Amino acid sequence: MLQRIILSLLLVASGPVLGDTVAVIGTGNVGMALGTEFAALDHTVIYGSRSPESQKTRALVDKTPNASAALPAEAAARADVIVLAVPGMATESVVNALGDLSGKIIIDPTNPLIVEGDPPTFIIGTDRSLGEIVQEAHPDAFVVKAFNTINWQLMIDPPTPPPVIPLAGDNAEAKVQVAEWVRAMGLDSVDVGGIYHARATEYLIVMMLNNRFTGSEKFEVVFQPAE
Ligand SMILES: NC(=O)c1ccc[n+]([C@@H]2O[C@H](COP(=O)([O-])OP(=O)(O)OC[C@H]3O[C@@H](n4cnc5c(N)ncnc54)[C@H](OP(=O)(O)O)[C@@H]3O)[C@@H](O)[C@H]2O)c1
Repeated sequence: MLQRIILSLLLVASGPVLGDTVAVIGTGNVGMALGTEFAALDHTVIYGSRSPESQKTRALVDKTPNASAALPAEAAARADVIVLAVPGMATESVVNALGDLSGKIIIDPTNPLIVEGDPPTFIIGTDRSLGEIVQEAHPDAFVVKAFNTINWQLMIDPPTPPPVIPLAGDNAEAKVQVAEWVRAMGLDSVDVGGIYHARATEYLIVMMLNNRFTGSEKFEVVFQPAE
C-alpha cells in the first residue's frame, strides 16, 4: 500500500508519460476520426473495442496505418495515452473497467447524452461533468477534456481558419501536450482551466442539442481568439 502511494506521488510529481502508443476506446465516429488522426501523426493506435474481432473493427484497423484492436482494458494497458470515444452514458462504466491508468494522459471528448423524455434530459447538468467523473475514477492519470465541442468530421477535415477547441484539465503539462497534437491535426485550442471547467464545455453541447430537440433556432458553439 505504502509503495503504491509513493509510486502515485512520484507519478504526479513527474508529470504525464509521453509515449507514442494511443488507445482509442470506442470505434464509432469519434474513435475513427481521432484514431486515424493520431495514426497520421505516426502514433501507434490500438482500438479498444468490445468486439475487437468484428468486421466493423477489423475494417477500421485496416484503414488506420500501424493499428491493431483489443478489448478496452488490454488496449489501455498497452498504451501511453487513452482516448475515450464512448457514449456519455457509458463513460463511467467504461473508465471504471480500464484498469490502472496512473501517469497516462486521458483525452476525454465525451458529452452527456439523452436519457429519455420530451424534451429529452441529459445525464448530468452543471453540477457535475463526465470529465470530472473520469478524473475521479483515475486520480493518478491526467485527464484533458478535449474535442467534445466539434463534430467528428471537423476533426478529420478542419476548415480554415481552424476551429478552436477548449481544453480543460488539472495538469498543465498534459494540456500543453494535447494542444500540440491538436495543432498537428490542423485544429487550434484554448486552455480554459481545470477539469472543473469540463462542466461548462459539456453544458454548451447540452444547450446546443436541447435547442435542436425542442425546435428552437439552431446554433453552433464557436470559440475564437480575442484581442
Ligand atoms: N459524433 C460527434 O461528432 C461527436 C463530437 C464530439 C464529441 N462526441 C462525443 O464523443 C463520444 C463518442 O461519440 P461517437 O459519435 O463516436 O459515438 P458512437 O459513434 O456511438 O461510437 C461510440 C463507440 O463507443 C463504444 N462503446 C463502448 N461502450 C459502449 C456502450 N455501452 N454502448 C455503445 N457503444 C459503446 C462502441 O465501440 P465498440 O462497439 O467497438 O466497443 C461505439 O462504437 C460521445 O460521448 C459523444 O457525445 C461526439
